[in-house]
Order: sequence, then structure tokens, then C-alpha cells
Amino acid sequence: MKKSSNGSSKVSAADDPDPPAKDVRVCTGVHGLDGLLGGGFPVGSFILLSGTCGTGKSIMGMQFLYEGAEKGEPGVYLSMEEEPDRLIYDMSGFSWDLRKHMDEGRLVIAKPEIYESDAIKRMIVDSVERIGAKRLVIDSFTLLSSYLEHPFDVRKMVFDLSREIKKLNCTALAISDVQEGTHSYSTNGFEEFVADGVVVLSLTQASATGAYTRTLLVRKMRATQHSLKLMPFKIEKGGLKLYPEAELFG
Ligand SMILES: Nc1ncnc2c1ncn2[C@@H]1O[C@H](COP(=O)(O)OP(=O)(O)O)[C@@H](O)[C@H]1O
Ligand SMILES: [Mg+2]
Repeated sequence: MKKSSNGSSKVSAADDPDPPAKDVRVCTGVHGLDGLLGGGFPVGSFILLSGTCGTGKSIMGMQFLYEGAEKGEPGVYLSMEEEPDRLIYDMSGFSWDLRKHMDEGRLVIAKPEIYESDAIKRMIVDSVERIGAKRLVIDSFTLLSSYLEHPFDVRKMVFDLSREIKKLNCTALAISDVQEGTHSYSTNGFEEFVADGVVVLSLTQASATGAYTRTLLVRKMRATQHSLKLMPFKIEKGGLKLYPEAELFG
């Protein structure tokens, strides 16, 4: 950990002592997104998946894990609020056989019983280690961070988790629930600076018609040359599908 000139302690994912030696990517699961990210998310990255309610964050999180499980890469979904059965029910509209992957040890949906930050952190690391998970979704990081009292503790939590998952070669999506009308990508106002990447899901309104379109923006992605275009997407039978070439309100 660094001390800044004014004496305050700082933690940052950039302090990572063991950056990956080569550029390895993990597919996102979102149809049409990998090609825009040079193959997917950088392996070992801590990605903030940010958006207001109903924008598709939980679906994208599960899609990321489902895609991995199909490829033989185990994943852990930390559900801070929803019961696992309820989550499986909500996802039943998609053609994903989650139960099969759970039964065969490629998917764990974990819900904490003790809402204490160190216990949850341990639970995450234990679940990841137990099944050799290469993917992790925290739904939501907003709720997880609400169990921490001080902003510094949240920052440390991001740093610690980020370091742990890198060590395990695991890539994490931390879901950030943002309030309608705010301009921040995170709950605490700094997670986006510490994270390796920020993907924002929104409902964008056409000024002419008032109609809403689902949009995805890659706001930040370490080591990646990416577009800053607001791209329309749909939630279809197979999950999120991006239409990067489509006119936003076409
Ligand atoms: N089977 C489905 N097919 C198409 N759209 C769906 C389906 N299930 C949910 N949705 C859409 O996704 C939204 C919920 O997505 P979700 O990922 O739970 O949002 P968030 O986690 O961002 O709050 C719903 O409001 C609905 O518009
Ligand atoms: Mg959700």
C-alpha cells in the first residue's frame, strides 16, 4: 500500500504486484461484445458492471458465468439479496441449463448467511477456490459495500478482492446499482477508479419520441482500445445481444 504526499493511505488495483505476463482474454458471454474488446475482458480483471434498475446487470452477470460453464470454466455467483432458487427462476426465460452446471460443479450460486464483510470476503474466496472458479459475479457490490462503515474499507475491499482473484486467475464482475439521474458509475464514488474496467448498462431515451432503448457503454477497460460509442442491445432468448452497428434510435 502507498502513502501519498498528504500522508493518506491509498490502495489501487494498479499496485498489483504480479500483473499478468501476457494479454489473455475471457469471453464476456454478451453476443457481439468480445470483438469490440480485443477478445473479451482481460483475465484477472475486476470489472464494475454499472447501471440503474432493470437495465440487465444480473442477466449479464449470469450470462457471463453460463458462457464460462459451457466452456468448462467454473464460476461463482455471489447473490447478496436474491435467494438462489429465485434467481434461477428469474433466469428460466433464457435457454440456459443452470441446474446442470450447478450439479456438475461448474456453477455455484452462493448467498451469505452472515452479513459481515470479512465473512463475505472469506466466503467469496473459499467458493472460488473450492471449484477452481475462473469467473466471479458479485450481485451486488453496492449491497456488499453497505456492510462497510468507512470509504477506506470499501476501497480496501476492492483492492483485496482484486488481488485475490488475480492470484487465482479469476475475472470478476462487480455489479453496481446506481440511482436514476446520478452521474456516478458507482455507489461510493471511487470504485470506477480502482476497477480495471467499467461497463455501463442504461435505458437511453430518444428526445424526439420519448422511447427508451437499451444501451451498453464500455466506459473503461484496462489494456484495451475500445469504442466509446453508446451501443444498442436487446435482451433476447439467449441473453444480451449487442447491435454495435445499429443506429441508436433507428
Ligand atoms: N426472459 C426475458 N426476456 C427478455 N427480457 C427479460 C427477460 N427477463 C427479464 N427481462 C428484462 O430484464 C429486466 C431485468 O433485468 P435484470 O438483469 O434483472 O436487471 P438489473 O439487475 O439491472 O436490475 C426486466 O425488467 C426485463 O425488462
Ligand atoms: Mg439485478
